[in-house]
Amino acid sequence: MNANRIIGGNHGLPVEANGKTVKKLSKNTLVNARSCLYAIMAHLNNPPIWMPSYLCESLLHEDYNVKFYDVDRSLTIDESFLTEIKPSEAVLVIDYFGFTQDRKIYERIKEKKCFSIEDASQSLLSDRDTTPDFTIYSLTKCLGLPDGGMIEARNSSFDVEVLPSPNNFVESATNFRRKRAEFDRGENDDWYSFYMAHKKLAVPIGPYAMSDLSKNLYESYDQPEIISRTRENYAHLQKHLDPIKQLVEGIAPIGFPILHENRDTLLDLLIENNIYPPIHWRLRQVPKSFLDSHWFSERQITLPCDHRYNLEDMERIIKCVLHS
Ligand SMILES: Cc1ncc(COP(=O)(O)O)c(C=O)c1O
Repeated sequence: MNANRIIGGNHGLPVEANGKTVKKLSKNTLVNARSCLYAIMAHLNNPPIWMPSYLCESLLHEDYNVKFYDVDRSLTIDESFLTEIKPSEAVLVIDYFGFTQDRKIYERIKEKKCFSIEDASQSLLSDRDTTPDFTIYSLTKCLGLPDGGMIEARNSSFDVEVLPSPNNFVESATNFRRKRAEFDRGENDDWYSFYMAHKKLAVPIGPYAMSDLSKNLYESYDQPEIISRTRENYAHLQKHLDPIKQLVEGIAPIGFPILHENRDTLLDLLIENNIYPPIHWRLRQVPKSFLDSHWFSERQITLPCDHRYNLEDMERIIKCVLHS
């Protein structure tokens, strides 16, 4: 194994194989998680939606009337907003980095006669019960699928009437994921330019179907292996570094999130060492008055620890972070 191989970045297209799927596809699959939220909001007639002040801002859509609620520096929800919400409004709850939120929040939202939407985009493979009205998933965050999102609804008759899958977008995503897979196998030395070309395309957000290609490839993954490898890597990092959240039973993390006072210097150092950690997330639209969220955003960095990597790779990451 190349001791300086690239760690992190997008996942490559999987090879077709019969995997072991613990998380089944639901009947409502769309092109991405944003489209899942959009379809739910359309179904609810676009009520005001409460979103956490710490979020992936790609979720903000011009059609939504967004109100923010606060989360603290440990990403725990400040429930004081529940005194302000009105019946029939929607509340989005995010499961950060694979960690589910305290399930009681869904009961409280229900007591207010509001609709709860759990955003499990970062926690596809974590255990959860089904108390929210809706749960949305992104299928491209911990897998190398070209596209995919899905909705689970408490009301089993909920159905999205879908539009055809956006072919150009899916083809371009397939192309860059294929190049990344070839790159990982040492068969080419450029996947990134294909990724950058893909990034120039407008992301489809609407009731667009998930592609058949991605539906078929979804079954290629050995999901128990993804969960156990990732947890093993996380547990190893945790012996040396301080994560935002300690690993607990039933959690399949998306990476190893830490806070660092000199985050941007650390980021540069990691990149110099061929380690590419995402920042979840840089806030630009959330009002500055949400001080804790902005504090968090300036320090956050997610160290890669997914199933593609082993303990040797984790050692490289640990060394870099401890030397920063
Ligand atoms: C918490 C969360 N929700 C939703 C999304 C959007 O997911 P998708 O790209 O599938 O629309 C992201 C993307 O980064 C995310 O982190």
